Amino acid sequence: MSVKNAMTADFLRSAYGGESMAHMRYLVWADAADREKFPNIGRLFRAVAYAEWAHAKNHFTVLKDQVGDSSVTAGAVFGLTNTVENLQGAIDGELHEVDQMYPVYLNAARYQEEKDAERSFHFAVEAEKQHAELFKKAQESAKAGNDIGDDKFYVCPVCGYTVVEDDLPEKCPVCGAKKEVFKDF
Ligand SMILES: [Fe+2]
Ligand SMILES: [Fe+2]
Repeated sequence: MSVKNAMTADFLRSAYGGESMAHMRYLVWADAADREKFPNIGRLFRAVAYAEWAHAKNHFTVLKDQVGDSSVTAGAVFGLTNTVENLQGAIDGELHEVDQMYPVYLNAARYQEEKDAERSFHFAVEAEKQHAELFKKAQESAKAGNDIGDDKFYVCPVCGYTVVEDDLPEKCPVCGAKKEVFKDF
């Protein structure tokens, strides 16, 4: 994996920064959900945090030959108030990635014929669509004062594809990984 063009490299660095912060933010919001007696929403945050780690790792790996320091500017959501608002931050962050960030980054990578970056951005955007839907359902429950159900979540360690137990496929539909390698939460 490697990258040759400066613009795609910048987008990879920014996406790495954004995914890294999302990973951290979701772990903090998971603990907050636990404190509010929403342990299953806490599990959802931890599952998605793992998916964001996979995205950050993929972007970082594509940049492996770009050795040295960089200042990284990336979108970040702030706030630690209550789980309903934290979930709104999560939904907003995911939708920004789905509707704005990754479509632009993907097109840049395609234009610059950066196959590895294109794959890394593609993996991420497909997972973020699911994350937005999972967080929306969780927010509906939290608004009504309820936790979500106790179904396990499964996350593909290669691309971050995230599903509930009942929807676990034989092979990851995004990257082809076998279900045996999925991590459960
Ligand atoms: Fe996500
Ligand atoms: Fe996958």
